[in-house]
Amino acid sequence: MTPPRRKTVRRTTVLPRQAVATAVPVALAALIAAGGPAVAGTAGASGAGDPYFPFEGNGGYDVRHYDLTLGYDTGTGHLDGKAVLRARATQRLTRFDLDLMGLKVTGVSVDHVKASFRRNGQELVITPRHALRAGQDFRVAVDYQGKPKPVTDPDGSLDGWIPTDDGAFVANEPQGAMTWFPANSHPVDKASYDITVTVPKGRTAVSNGVLLSRRTVGGHTTFHWRQAEPMAAYLATATVGKFDVQQYTTRDGIKVYNAVDPREASAAAPVLKKLPSVLAWESKVFGPYPFRAAGAIVDRAPKVGYALETQTRPVYDRAPDLSTLVHENAHQWFGDSVSLTRWQDIWLNEGFATYAEWLYSEQHGGKSAQQTFDALYARPASDGLWAFPPANPGSGAHIFDTPVYARGAMALHKLRTAVGDATFFRILRTWAADHRGGHGTTAQFVRLSERLSGQDLDALFHTWIGTTGKPSAP
Ligand code: ARG
Ligand code: ZN
Repeated sequence: MTPPRRKTVRRTTVLPRQAVATAVPVALAALIAAGGPAVAGTAGASGAGDPYFPFEGNGGYDVRHYDLTLGYDTGTGHLDGKAVLRARATQRLTRFDLDLMGLKVTGVSVDHVKASFRRNGQELVITPRHALRAGQDFRVAVDYQGKPKPVTDPDGSLDGWIPTDDGAFVANEPQGAMTWFPANSHPVDKASYDITVTVPKGRTAVSNGVLLSRRTVGGHTTFHWRQAEPMAAYLATATVGKFDVQQYTTRDGIKVYNAVDPREASAAAPVLKKLPSVLAWESKVFGPYPFRAAGAIVDRAPKVGYALETQTRPVYDRAPDLSTLVHENAHQWFGDSVSLTRWQDIWLNEGFATYAEWLYSEQHGGKSAQQTFDALYARPASDGLWAFPPANPGSGAHIFDTPVYARGAMALHKLRTAVGDATFFRILRTWAADHRGGHGTTAQFVRLSERLSGQDLDALFHTWIGTTGKPSAP
């Protein structure tokens, strides 16, 4: 397999790499140094401090829960929204930002008192009537409406609310959440969600977690979804379309909800049938499945060109093949449950999910991981695979490029051969367990690997995730 084929490989990246070249050689210590948000004064910062997407997220507060109530008119593409956020101030706040792009805000309140606001690019700047104390819990309500438009990412791909011929394909990695709801849109701030979507009767709105209710009144149907476990905003979805729905509970008690565009149904059926066995296999290899719900949203969205590991229920732009199904569900452990603190660490998501594909193949009669590794290692030094270190893509434009996926997986394979299978799988399970529902950094993964193996792995990690160019020995 030649990852990453679930993404914008077709928008080929024959891109200049100056940004990366200047950062090389990169000491492991430097590339894993954490970049914390800089917050000063009493106004919340306009970003979470991530240099790859400086305006993503905000400073000064932590969101606990999002309650989104949406109405989508599939005929006109108009969205009506109300977002109620419950948050806690992490500093005194005279003013704070939410991320929101486009759309018209018609009202904002803080603790039920009307607040003033202004728009500044992707920032919705809110000034509450009374300043918030550090540590204070507060409620923000935002009323908004308009025709959501996707954002174009630095790699040229569409991201966010992407209209389709029968609804919308909604996938937000890395920055699309702001195209349909006001958020603290950086993975460092995770929260639970209630997402209620009203659509014309005959359409289905599919979101994350468990479906609590579905009601048709007159010509409209309302779907109420609850994502109880913490989720990063980029993993939220509210995909709308004409879908065939299938629901069941697995032997492990996981509630499965699949929504499939009828035009993709025959191609999707044989792959979706394997979902319970894929989840069972992944649970055996990575440890218990981290959520109470699972499933798939199989849409027909030709403009998208990728699938996304939306939490509990990945969204596919077409009927997925089996390795894509394995990949997106592996992300439920690596990326969704254990989240990034900064986009630079994206190999912790994509390298791991890609290695899950290799392992699945190896344990199901396909190529061994070693064979996959060898085939990649055979690529010439000039190949894009070696263009930059997986743990240092250099900018947001390269976070979904081949080195992150394929060389990230190669790094894990090198770790496995160095420490042996028993320790390697213990590292993966410990990683998933220790950081479940939270966050993990590259530095923490390196430290865990060293602790459980008792080996000094600096050179191995430096070579495989920290250097540009093809490592001289496989
Ligand atoms: N994380 C997705 C995957 O499983 C890729 C998302 C690509 N997003 C984008 N905006 N290009 O590989
Ligand atoms: Zn992925």
